[in-house]
Amino acid sequence: MLTSLLDLARKTEFTDWLISIRRKLHQWPELAFQEVKTSELIRSELDRLGIEYTWPVAKTGLVATIGSGSGPVFGLRADMDALPLQEMVEWEYKSKVDGKMHACGHDLHVTMLLGAARLLQQHKDQLKGTVKLFFQPAEEGHAGAYHMIKEGALQDVQAMFAMHVEPDIPAGTIKSKPGPMTAASGRFHVTIKGKGGHGSRPHHTIDPIIAASFAILGLQQIVSRESDPLESRVVSVGFVKAGEGAYNVIPETATFGGTFRSFSTEGFSYLKQRIKEIIEMQASVHQCTASVDFMESTLIPYPPLINHASMYNHVKAVGERLLGEANVLLMDPITGSEDFSFFSQKIPAAMFCIGVGSETVDQVHSCHSPYFFANEKSLSIGAALHAAVAIEYLDKKLKNVPSNEEKVT
Ligand code: NI
Repeated sequence: MLTSLLDLARKTEFTDWLISIRRKLHQWPELAFQEVKTSELIRSELDRLGIEYTWPVAKTGLVATIGSGSGPVFGLRADMDALPLQEMVEWEYKSKVDGKMHACGHDLHVTMLLGAARLLQQHKDQLKGTVKLFFQPAEEGHAGAYHMIKEGALQDVQAMFAMHVEPDIPAGTIKSKPGPMTAASGRFHVTIKGKGGHGSRPHHTIDPIIAASFAILGLQQIVSRESDPLESRVVSVGFVKAGEGAYNVIPETATFGGTFRSFSTEGFSYLKQRIKEIIEMQASVHQCTASVDFMESTLIPYPPLINHASMYNHVKAVGERLLGEANVLLMDPITGSEDFSFFSQKIPAAMFCIGVGSETVDQVHSCHSPYFFANEKSLSIGAALHAAVAIEYLDKKLKNVPSNEEKVT
């Protein structure tokens, strides 16, 4: 059954269909919560396949349903949004939208999930429950997953799986790890206020640049001096702005901002608290005032993505049968973040990276690079893996195969 899914997805007509969808999406990238055409294309393909869906969910998202309509219910997820980036790859299906590019492979994610939809629909009478397909908006910084959950999309779903493309490993391989896989991530935006004046008479000013400089240096000690060296944390300042470029003017204010990351919720709260304290106190030492904005109402921080051990083991076993044992790899955690973590906070879930490395490209360009390029052979593999993970999960539930869900914390 499993290998026949891959055979089906690798048939010329099926592969050509996948590639044509992926290229359409790649040429017309849309940013977070603007995935109108993308959502339209998904709906028209689902209509053609005779698959029902709920739409809209979280503005542009949708949830398709295949199977008996009763439990158990298993979820598969693909994110849909592109990045504000100019594509630098010269190829026939290059992005046609200036300044926008599918540089994180979400076009491939959507295509793989549509491929899975078609495979599952072909096997719908054999499904021992229901599969829900989440086409999610706004993964890139805008917490689309959080908004789908808020609208009740996760209600009856018992477990969930998602994939992310990875150009570091060849098509035909997948990798993941149990437990923490990506970090929790938040942002801070700081304004330090002093008193501007002439650079030649600093004693008549209160220099916000000095306060900002001390504050930024102070932030470096949180990870190096206050955190357990065995626990990974990051505080990075990404920008500093002060003045208009005059050599002899001390500005009124200085602003800077950055990102902070941790693999635990406790670590994340600690970083947040210390970032605020250090900046406010350093500002005060230098007679300035500081406001620290974590922008949580507009840009919700992402929790760490924790792969549930039983889901990880399930996907690993299915992957080994589908692709061969040697092609399922163990990875290290990464300090990137991924909003699939909102789903993993609620139910047992796992994410795997799927190889999209090309044999012909000698230099690997990672996700978010304007040179990002993916091997389209991965599309049928992703489609088959999605479908196989769902089918096998429902089968196991029916046979009541004991899971170790309860034992895992
Ligand atoms: Ni991504």
